[in-house]
Amino acid sequence: MSGFTKIIQKDLDKLESSIDDLLSTRVGYIKEIVTYIIKSGGKRVRPVLVMLCSKLCGYRGKKHIPYAAIIEFIHTATLLHDDVVDNAKTRRGLSTVNTVWGNEPSVLVGDFLYSRSFELMSRDGNTEILKTISQVTTALSEGEILEIIKTADLGTTEKDYYEIIGNKTAVLFGAACEIGAILGGRTANERKALRNFGYNLGIAFQLMDDVLDYTSYNDVLGKHVGTDLKEGKVTLPLIYVLNSAGEKERASIESALAKQRITKQDFNRIRRMIEKKGGIAYTMDATKKHLDMAKKRLDIFPASQYKTALLELADYMLKREM
Ligand code: FPP
Ligand code: MG
Repeated sequence: MSGFTKIIQKDLDKLESSIDDLLSTRVGYIKEIVTYIIKSGGKRVRPVLVMLCSKLCGYRGKKHIPYAAIIEFIHTATLLHDDVVDNAKTRRGLSTVNTVWGNEPSVLVGDFLYSRSFELMSRDGNTEILKTISQVTTALSEGEILEIIKTADLGTTEKDYYEIIGNKTAVLFGAACEIGAILGGRTANERKALRNFGYNLGIAFQLMDDVLDYTSYNDVLGKHVGTDLKEGKVTLPLIYVLNSAGEKERASIESALAKQRITKQDFNRIRRMIEKKGGIAYTMDATKKHLDMAKKRLDIFPASQYKTALLELADYMLKREM
C-alpha cells in the first residue's frame, strides 16, 4: 500500500505462503477459484492491521501470520457472497467469480473460505479470538441484510446508514486490530481501544468506498463506478442530498433508484447533483472525523514505529484511489 508496510514486509511475504498452505484442498476446482480471487491484488489492509497491532502490543510469536490470513479469508468470503448479491461484474480489475464461474461456485467457495477460517481458529483454540470473530461474522451478515432491506429506500437515515456500514465493514476492521491486543496479552482497556481504532478506520474506509463509487473511474477503481446507485444503495453522499432536495430533485433520484437499468445519463445527472449539493464534501468530512476518532484511540499507546505506521495507515484511507 505504502511506506508504512515496510516494517512488516517480511511478515507480509510470509503471509502469501501461509495463505497457500492454509488453503490446501484436494478439490482442484476450489483451488482454482480461490487462487483467482485471493491472488487478484487485494490491498491486504486487514492483514496489515492484524500484524501492526500485534507488534504494537509487543507480540513476539508467529501466530499473527495465520490469523492475518484468516481475516483475509473471511473478508474474501464476504466479497464472493457480496458480488453475487450485488450482481457485480468486476472487482480488482478482473471479472468477478460469479461472472466467470457462476453464482453457485461463488457462494460455495465463499463457504469454503469461511469454514476453513473457523477450522483453523478452532485448531488453535484461542477462545477469545474465536468469540470475537464469530460475533463479527454474525454482524457482517446482519449488515448485509440490513442493506438489502433498505434498498431504494429514500427514507434511509444517516443512523441507518452508519448501522449498515458499521456491521458490514467496520466490525471486521475492529476485530483485525483486537486480535493484535489478544495475542499481545493486553488489558481489556487496550483491547477496547484497538477495537475502536479499527472500527472507526473501517467506517472511514467504507465512507471513502461510497465516495469513490461516485467520483472515480472504472480503470482506477478496478470495479464499476456507479454500482451503488444502480443497485439501489442509498449511501451517505445521496442521503445528504436527499435531506435538502426539493420535490423535483427527489423525484429524479427516486426514478433512477427504481429503474431496472439505469442509463449513463441518469448516473451522470445524479453524480453532478451530488457534487454540486455538497454530498461528496460532506462524506469526505465525515471520513476525516472518523479518522480523527480512530487516531485518538491510539493515545494510550506509547510512541513506537508500529504506532507511527498505524497513524500513517489511517491517513492513507483518505488518499486511497482503489
Ligand atoms: C462489500 O460492500 C460487502 C461487505 C463489506 C460485507 C459483505 C457481507 C456478507 C456478504 C455477509 C456475510 C458473509 C460471510 C461469509 C460471513 P460493498 O458492496 O459496498 O462493496 P464493493 O463495492 O466492494 O462490492
Ligand atoms: Mg458489492
